[in-house]
Parts: sequence; structure tokens; C-alpha cells
Amino acid sequence: MAIQTIKAFAPATVANVAVGFDILGFAIDGPGDEVVLEVSDEFHPMELTILGDDGQLPLDPDKNTVSIVIKLMMDRLGIRKGVKIQLTKKMPLKSGMGSSAASSVVGAFALNALLGNPLSKSELLPLVMEGERAACGAAHADNVAPCLFGGLILVRSYEPLEVLSLPMPGKLICTLVHPEIDVPTSISRAVLPPTVLLKNMIRQTGNLAAFISALYTENYELLGRAIRDFVIEPNRAKLIPGFYEAQKEAFATGALGCSISGSGPSIFALSDDMDKAQTIGLAIRDVFKKQYINSEIFVSQINAEGPRIL
Ligand code: HSE
Repeated sequence: MAIQTIKAFAPATVANVAVGFDILGFAIDGPGDEVVLEVSDEFHPMELTILGDDGQLPLDPDKNTVSIVIKLMMDRLGIRKGVKIQLTKKMPLKSGMGSSAASSVVGAFALNALLGNPLSKSELLPLVMEGERAACGAAHADNVAPCLFGGLILVRSYEPLEVLSLPMPGKLICTLVHPEIDVPTSISRAVLPPTVLLKNMIRQTGNLAAFISALYTENYELLGRAIRDFVIEPNRAKLIPGFYEAQKEAFATGALGCSISGSGPSIFALSDDMDKAQTIGLAIRDVFKKQYINSEIFVSQINAEGPRIL
């Protein structure tokens, strides 16, 4: 019986990026998910083990994003094989750092590589989006797309699906601070009103356009002025104790922009210097400390590569 094994990694991501709710996201270096896949020619029911999740994630292969996506992919390719999955979480769960996206992508990427890459990344994208639907009820792509392609991704359209890679100016460093509080994506989506005021639409589209211009022209000052969220952040800030103070401290210590990472509770800040990025992280952590909340800091460059075989 032939057995093949592969090990892969997929990165954490920052979705929304203040100006692009559900349509912008970038990948970071460091935190993410690792998977070891063992695929045998002899079929057996899928086996899933998970490390690093403190027993929080479902072990039922029909309920975990990594196995749901692998099953979908095998159905799509008409493959019947025995699959053992060992997933290792090397990032916080329910953090707004794209944990479910990393699981969906790492499994799909590993299986695809092991099979000799029958699917392109563009063909994998709709499959890994189904992992997001299973995890939070909405098949948004702003975590899975940057996780899969690397770099900063714009979702130009969902129907039909079209994603574009945008340039990230080389000096940008991301600070992420994850406070140890629970804010499920379902709750942080439920607090959003269904309509947007016209005046906010005008401000937000102006900022999104200026943000993209700043990326192409590497204009850090413009990027800093543009990266402001008038639509989503005011509704979600109340779910994160001390959010506005943390944001104020981030700006005071050199952040160009600072907002909620994905659906929260993590906060991200962009700056143009590694020392500033570290200082910003400590300043935000101090604000959470005052709220009696422990937090973890991640400082990294933008990950241009996406997932990789280990
Ligand atoms: N765009 C999604 C949201 C990302 O903000 O709900 C979830 O991490």
C-alpha cells in the first residue's frame, strides 16, 4: 500500500485592513498553521488530530475547516484515498488573525502539492472559501485569499469571484496584538448594521482609493492619512475593551494606521520601521494590561509568499 506524507505551513492574515471590509487582507510572517498529511491509496475514514488548540477545535472531520476543505477537494478531483491529518495551530484561535483560513489553506495547499498540483491557486480559492463558510457562516475571501496567494489581496468581486494582488511598500511592518478575550466572528458580524450612511460611504471610498494609490506610489504619509475606518470599526470597537485608547497609543508611538484585525479582537498597526513596530506593540499591550487583559504581540513583515511546503 503506497503512503505519501507532506508537511506544510500557511500564514496568519489581517483582513479588512481598515478600509476594505471583506475585500482586503494581507498575510504576515510567523504565526500560522502547520499540517502533516498522510495519504494512502487504501481508503479509510478521514482521521484528524489537532495540536496547540487546547482542545477547542472540533475533531470531527465533518466539522473542522481543514478536513472539510480536503474532503471538498477530493470530491472535486474525484479522488478516493485514505487521509490522516495532523494539524498544529501555531497561532491564537478566534483572534481575528485568520485562524480558520490558515487551517483551510494549509490542508488544501498540502494535498494539492502532494497530488502534483492538479489545481491552480485560483482554482483552490473557491474551495478554501467554503472552509470560511463552515467556520463562520460567510464565505468571505479576505483571509483565505492572502493566506493562499501571499501579500496584500483585493477582492474586486465575489460574483463572479475576482481577486487582485496589490503591492505592499517594502518598509511596511505589521504589529498585531491579540488580547485574550473571546469575540466570535458571528458576534462581530452580527453587530454590523445592514446599511451605511452615504457620508460614510463617501469618506470610506475616498480612503480606499487613496490607500491603493499610496501602495503604488509608496507614499507612507498618504497611506497613514487614508487608513481610517468610518464604517466597521465604530460598531466593533465596543467589543474590545480599551480599543480607542490602544489606537491612540499606537498613533502616539508611530503607527501610520491602526484598527481591528479582521473581526477582532486583535488590533493591527502598520508602521515603517521595526523599532517603532515593537514599541507600538508594547504600548497597546500596556493598554490591555490596564484592563486586566493579557495579550500577545506579533511583529512581522508582510508575507509575500503565502503557504509553503516544509
Ligand atoms: N472580513 C471578515 C470580517 C473577516 O471582518 O468579519 C473575518 O476575520
